[in-house]
Amino acid sequence: MDGLPLNLREHIEKILASRRDGFALPGAFFSDDALYEAELEYIFARHWIFLATGAEIPEGGDYRTYQIGHYPIFLLRRDDGAIVGFHNTCRHRGSRILQQASGIAGATLMCPYHRWTYDLDGHVVGCGGTGEIARSQPPLKAVHVRQIEGLVFVCLADEPPADIEEMRRRITPYLAPHAVTNTKVAKQDDIIEHGNWKLTIENNRECFHCAGHPELLNSLFEFLGEPDVNTMSDKERAEHRRFLAARDTSQALWHQFGLPFELIEELHGRATGFRTERLVLDGTGESMTPNTRAASRRLLGQFTDARLGTLHLHVQPNAWFHFLADHVLTFSTLPLGRDRTLVRTTWLVHADAQEGVDYDLANLTSVWDATNRQDAEFVAETQRGVLSPAYLPGPIGDTEFMVNRFHSWYEERLRAALPP
Ligand code: FES
Ligand SMILES: [Fe+2]
Repeated sequence: MDGLPLNLREHIEKILASRRDGFALPGAFFSDDALYEAELEYIFARHWIFLATGAEIPEGGDYRTYQIGHYPIFLLRRDDGAIVGFHNTCRHRGSRILQQASGIAGATLMCPYHRWTYDLDGHVVGCGGTGEIARSQPPLKAVHVRQIEGLVFVCLADEPPADIEEMRRRITPYLAPHAVTNTKVAKQDDIIEHGNWKLTIENNRECFHCAGHPELLNSLFEFLGEPDVNTMSDKERAEHRRFLAARDTSQALWHQFGLPFELIEELHGRATGFRTERLVLDGTGESMTPNTRAASRRLLGQFTDARLGTLHLHVQPNAWFHFLADHVLTFSTLPLGRDRTLVRTTWLVHADAQEGVDYDLANLTSVWDATNRQDAEFVAETQRGVLSPAYLPGPIGDTEFMVNRFHSWYEERLRAALPP
C-alpha cells in the first residue's frame, strides 16, 4: 500500500475531513472499502497489536496462528522460552506454512504443500534440492514481538513505534502484582461481531450504554473520569455518593498493599495510545462475578486480599483488559472485513488453580459472556444503522470522552502514516 494512488489518498483525506471533533463518525467511516484497506495497512500493520498472553503458548514448541488484515502470521515459543513471530507465508510459492489455529512444532516447521522445511529461527533447512540451495534462500520474515508482563504485542512494521518501551515502563508497576506470567487459560472465547472494528472499540470505550449490561453492573460502577454532580438526578447523586465511599475504602487498601492506582491517560497524541487506572468495584469489591466475590480461591501473585477492584487497561487500537485479584481478562479485537470483527476474550487464572476445586468455570465467565453478547448486539445494530443514508452523526456526550479520544488517535495515526 506504500504506493497508494494519489486520488485514493485524497479520497481518504476527504473522509477524514468529514469528521467533526466531538461527534460520532460519519457513515463513510464504516462503509468505504478504500478506507478499510488503508486502516489494515496504516493502523493494523504499523502499530503494536495485542494478540495473546504467554499463557496461550506455554511450552517450548507451542505455536498459534493469526491473521492481521492481509497478513497471516504465527507466534511460537522456542525451547529457550522466548516468543518469536514470523510471517506465515512459505518462501517457496507462498502457502501458509502452519495451517492450524494452534499446535506443537517439532525441531523444524514444514510447509505441507511441497515440504519445504524451516528451523525455528525461520531459516530454510530443506527444499527438496541440495543443502546449498536451501541455505541460499531468505529466511521467513520475522514479526516484531514485545512482551509486557506476559502480554504479547506484535508489530508488522519494519520500524515499529518506539514508544511501546515508555508504555511498558509506566504500566509495569500496575500490572506486575497480578503476575500474568504465572497464569493459565481457563477459557477463551471468539465472537464475530457483525460490525466495523471501530464500532467494537467505540463501544468498549464508554459505559454510557452500561444499563444494557445488568450482569456487569453488579460489580462495575458506571462512573468514569470525574462526572459533574450538578447535572445528576437525585438517584444518580445517591449512587455517586455510594461510589465515593467505596472508593475511599478501596484506596485505603491499595495504599496498604502498595498498588499504584492513579490514572494515566495518553489515549492519543502518541503512536501507542493507552490508559490505565485501578477502578473501584461495587458489592464486595472483589471481582466481576454475579455475586461480586472472587471466582477463584487461588489469588494471583502474592495477593492476600481479593478486594482490589479492577486494574483496567486500554491500548489503541485493538485491546482492553481487566486485572482482578483472582483472574485476568484480555480482549483482542481484529478486523475480519469491513463489517466483521473478531473479539477474542481470554480468562486467565493462577497457574496452579484447579477447575472445580478452586474455581467454577461458569461462575468465572458468566458476566463477561453475557456482556460480550450484549455488546455484539449493540455493535451489529449500530453497523446496520450507520449504513443508512439517513444517518447523521450525533454529539458525543461527556461520559463518552474516550470515544472521542479514540477518534482523535485514529485520525492522527492515519494522517501520520499516509504517504505525503
Ligand atoms: S509453497 Fe511451501 S513448499 Fe511450496
Ligand atoms: Fe458494553
